[in-house]
Amino acid sequence: MQWIKLYESEASAKAEIPLTKAVTVVVAGQELCLAHTRAGLFAVNNACPHLGDSLSRGTTNYLNEIICPWHSYRFNLASGE
Ligand code: FES
Repeated sequence: MQWIKLYESEASAKAEIPLTKAVTVVVAGQELCLAHTRAGLFAVNNACPHLGDSLSRGTTNYLNEIICPWHSYRFNLASGE
């Protein structure tokens, strides 16, 4: 596994990504959704497994889920369910 630094610190990442929001980051050619929830920061594949919309355009909720902006499917950021 290779670690790639995206932000100077966890605090700076949280400052740049508002709580409940997500951003797209490209790491080693792979597009990821970096989401900020009350439980912390999570990185997942940016393509929704339903029909491929960008999860980073969605929002997070109090259940630690990212909500896809197209059909509102929800995915738990910790478990993947
Ligand atoms: S594309 Fe994400 S829920 Fe349909």
